[in-house]
Amino acid sequence: MATAEKKRPRSSSGGGGGGGVEKRPSRKQILGRKKAVEELIRKAVAVKDHLAQFPDFHKYQRNGLLVYLESGHGNQLPLSTRKYIQNLLKVNMEGQYGPEWPSEEKIKRREMVAPEARYIFVRQSSNAITTQNIMKQDSGLEFTHEACNEDRLIGFVHYRFVLEEDVPVVYVYELQMVPSAQGKGLGKFLMELIELIACKHEGSADFDGVYMQSQMGAVMLTVQKANNLAMAFYKKLRYVISSTSPSRVDPLCLQIGLEKNYEILCKACESEAKSKLEEGN
Ligand SMILES: CC(C)(COP(=O)(O)OP(=O)(O)OC[C@H]1O[C@@H](n2cnc3c(N)ncnc32)[C@H](O)[C@@H]1OP(=O)(O)O)[C@@H](O)C(=O)NCCC(=O)NCCS
Repeated sequence: MATAEKKRPRSSSGGGGGGGVEKRPSRKQILGRKKAVEELIRKAVAVKDHLAQFPDFHKYQRNGLLVYLESGHGNQLPLSTRKYIQNLLKVNMEGQYGPEWPSEEKIKRREMVAPEARYIFVRQSSNAITTQNIMKQDSGLEFTHEACNEDRLIGFVHYRFVLEEDVPVVYVYELQMVPSAQGKGLGKFLMELIELIACKHEGSADFDGVYMQSQMGAVMLTVQKANNLAMAFYKKLRYVISSTSPSRVDPLCLQIGLEKNYEILCKACESEAKSKLEEGN
């Protein structure tokens, strides 16, 4: 999805510059908000299985597909899954990146197994009835599915909880479907789930008299400008170019031919993030 680490958010505890607001917040408010945002990210990261909270997204049966979703963690991926991800990335993205692919591939391999990396996998079962029964239980999804060796992975989304311009967001690092499963609504289904995970309220909205954010502010991602299909897909899903995207941060680069080959897109959950990240769209 992205070309280099530099365009990814730094880390869940890092921070950006932040835009100007009408009223200057007090030091107490700034510290309170920082603490609240960090706590929010900590809570989101602590959830073992985000998918378990959304039973409507355990199964997808449309357009000739019958598939099941399951969650995973970057530092717990079996070797076969790591190989699968590497292969699918190569199939889908090598052509997009051209000569940049070898260096990009190295970065993606590192990102893939990071402890912060969270996954939703799409699995096509060779034994639909058995799996369907298993899926009815809300817990233990990862374990039950690992046992089904004959199931076939046909896509995945890799996401993380990070700070972007002081706004806690869900950042989509990868969204990939095998070619035969593309155009059947699965990408949209996965992004709807990611948006629900991002916009789910956690905890209280007040902390020591200071407003406390109770959900992620937005979903964000990076797309190669040349990836017309993905650009059109995200546009259809109402993603817009973020105020943090290179083309908006430094439009002068466009004029002098130093423009970046990617855009950062976002979709805000709430009005504060909307004004910070989507401003001007
Ligand atoms: C991009 C990708 C994730 C989209 O997932 P998908 O499952 O193929 O897309 P969907 O079938 O869910 O499409 C959802 C909507 O977007 C629209 N859409 C998809 N591709 C489109 C395109 N090229 N142009 C216009 N609309 C498009 C669909 O028509 C659909 O609209 P609808 O809900 O009104 O029918 C998938 O095609 C893919 O894996 N591509 C290769 C890897 C890649 O480029 N990943 C993104 C990296 S940023």
